[in-house]
Amino acid sequence: SIQPVILSGGSGTRLWPASRETYPKQLLPLTGEDSLLQITAQRLNGFSADIAKPIVVTNEEHRFIIAEQMRQIGQPSDRIVLEPVGRNTAPAMQLAALIATQEGGDPVLLVMPADQIVTNTPAFHAAMSEGLKQAETGALVTFGIVPDRAETGYGYLRTGDIMPSASSARALVAFVEKPDAARAAEYVASGQYLWNAGIFMMRASVWLKALAALAPEIAAACQASVNEAKRDTDFIRVNKAAFTACPSNSIDYAVMEQLGAHPELGQAVVVPMDAGWSDVGAWDALWAVCDKDQNGNATQGDVMLEDTHNSLVFSQSRLVATVGIKDLIVVETPDAIMVADKSRAQDVKAIVSRIKSEG
Ligand code: GDD
Ligand code: MG
Repeated sequence: SIQPVILSGGSGTRLWPASRETYPKQLLPLTGEDSLLQITAQRLNGFSADIAKPIVVTNEEHRFIIAEQMRQIGQPSDRIVLEPVGRNTAPAMQLAALIATQEGGDPVLLVMPADQIVTNTPAFHAAMSEGLKQAETGALVTFGIVPDRAETGYGYLRTGDIMPSASSARALVAFVEKPDAARAAEYVASGQYLWNAGIFMMRASVWLKALAALAPEIAAACQASVNEAKRDTDFIRVNKAAFTACPSNSIDYAVMEQLGAHPELGQAVVVPMDAGWSDVGAWDALWAVCDKDQNGNATQGDVMLEDTHNSLVFSQSRLVATVGIKDLIVVETPDAIMVADKSRAQDVKAIVSRIKSEG
C-alpha cells in the first residue's frame, strides 16, 4: 500500500505579503479556488486504489486550517502530526515513517511538499507508478525534472543507466543539494543532471534503516518524541522536549546526498518526470504557472488593468488599478502592499527579514 506524507511546515517568505507565518503559501488559494495543500492532496485522486489517508506533518499553529482544508476536499486526515518546532524535513519524514509503521506493515511512503504545482496529472501518475515499482523492490526513489536554468535553490540528480526492466527509471549516480551558481551552470550544460522535484518514494523500512545509519541523533530524538506523543482526535502532538532536542537537517542533506557512499542502504533511483512541475518558490514562478490574459497578466481579486503587460496583480481587499506597466508584481493585502520588479522576485525575502528585525 501507499502512504502519502505531505510536508507542510514551511512559511514561504518569498511570497510575502500574501504568505505569512500564520497563513503560509501552501494554505493559500494562489492558483484558483483550492490551496496548494489541497491541490497536492487531490493530485493522487485516481492514481491507485491502495492509497491510505495522507499523513500531514506541520506545526501546531496551522493545525485547524489544515484539518479544515483536508475536510473540505473530502480527505479528512486522521493523522495530522504537529511539530512543536521546525527541524527541517528529515525529522518530519522520520516522524511520518514511525507513525506509518506503528501498527506493523511496511507501506511505501510517498513524501510530497505541500507547496508545488503539477499541471499534467496523468504524467505525474505515470511517474508515480514507475517510482512505485522501484520502491517496492527496496529502492530510494527521487523524481527528476529537466532543468531550464542554473537554479541554485534545488537539488541536482546525476542520472546513470536505466534500471533493469524499467521503462524510464534510472540509477541515481550522484545527488548534489543546492550547488553554487558555477556548479549549477556546469550541471545544466552537461545534460546529465535533472532537478530534484523534492518528492520521494521508498518503503518505510528502507527510510528508517537509512536514517538510523546516516543520522542516528535524528532517529533517536524522533523515536523519543513519538514514544511520548499525545493523540487528541486527529492530531498527534510529538513530545516537545524530545523533538526540540532533535538536530535540524533536510532529507536531501541528511540522506539523499549520502547514499552514493552507502550502497548497502539501497539502490538510489531517479524517475524522470515531465508533468508541468513547479515549486512556486516566488512570485515570478507563480506568474509563470498561472492562467494569463492576452497581455500575459495573471490576476486575482478586484483589479483593473490598462495597457499592462506580463505582470501579476493580486488584490485581496481593495480595487487595484495599473496603467502602463510591464513585468511587475503587485500584491495587495489588508495590511501591506508590495510592488516589485518581476526579475527581483527572489529578493522579497529581504523585506521579510527587515520586517522581522526592524519590527
Ligand atoms: N513538517 C515540516 N517541518 N515541513 C517542512 C519543514 C519542517 O520543519 N521544513 C520544510 N518543510 C516543508 C516545506 O513546507 C516544503 O513543502 C517542503 O517541506 C520542502 O522544504 P523546502 O524548505 O521548501 O525545501 P527546498 O525548496 O529548500 O528544497 C527541496 O525542494 C526542492 C524542490 O522544490 C529539496 O528537496 C531540493 O532538493 C528540491 O530541488
Ligand atoms: Mg521549497
